[in-house]
Amino acid sequence: MRMRRKKWTRAELAVCPYYIDRPEGNRGRWRDAFEREGPLYLELGCGKGVSTAAMAADNPGVNYLAMDLNADVLGVARRNVEAAFRGKQVNNLKLLRGNAEQIEYFFAPEDRVERIYINFCNPWAKRAKQHKRRLTHTRKLLKYRDFLVDDGEIWFKTDDDALFNATRRYLEESGFALRWLTWDLHGSGFTPNYVSEHERLYMEAGVPIKLLIAAKEPGLPEGAPGECAGSDGNERNEET
Ligand SMILES: C[S@@+](CC[C@H](N)C(=O)[O-])C[C@H]1O[C@@H](n2cnc3c(N)ncnc32)[C@H](O)[C@@H]1O
Repeated sequence: MRMRRKKWTRAELAVCPYYIDRPEGNRGRWRDAFEREGPLYLELGCGKGVSTAAMAADNPGVNYLAMDLNADVLGVARRNVEAAFRGKQVNNLKLLRGNAEQIEYFFAPEDRVERIYINFCNPWAKRAKQHKRRLTHTRKLLKYRDFLVDDGEIWFKTDDDALFNATRRYLEESGFALRWLTWDLHGSGFTPNYVSEHERLYMEAGVPIKLLIAAKEPGLPEGAPGECAGSDGNERNEET
């Protein structure tokens, strides 16, 4: 779903103290970017930040980084953050404009991220060749490992069964152990659950939401693919 360009977003983001247009400048120093020390959680493809805003407002002891490549949606996210914080100063959240394809330019091992949220990312379902663009693909997970602490977690939600199954395999390949999994998040009693914009759309359409939580194990499994994992050959049978 492509959003129409919104002229007002650039002007509002330009004066937003928690918007970062060039996150590469903070690589390796994200922990110093916040007033208070706390666990560091990153969201990739945050979109309009509906769940991000609520989560950050409810958890002032956690520092959040929410990244999207689209400045227009981040402009909407800023408004959602302001609404969720109800006039309180926003000092535990930064909105970052960046492409997760280039995550290694924005994060370094010194950042010691404790959790990554990926909600309703593009399944790139049309052609197997595109699967490596998925934000949960093995080659991305191997990059995330570099700046996640041991035992650091990936929280992944989707409406897409095939992507969910493929992601379980990607996680296994890249040294993550499954901690929690449900094929029906809203029937599972899992709490607290912060509902994102796309989650609400799928809920309203009656599509069950899938959630998994996986933790980084200290070592890679034997025979794990290298940094450039995810050849087309690897992909062919993944969703059977
Ligand atoms: C389907 S929307 C989901 C938004 C939100 N997470 C939600 O659940 O409502 C996917 C979002 O991911 C962003 N996105 C897609 N590819 C990205 C990438 N490589 N890096 C950062 N953001 C990306 C898009 O701009 C879009 O806002």
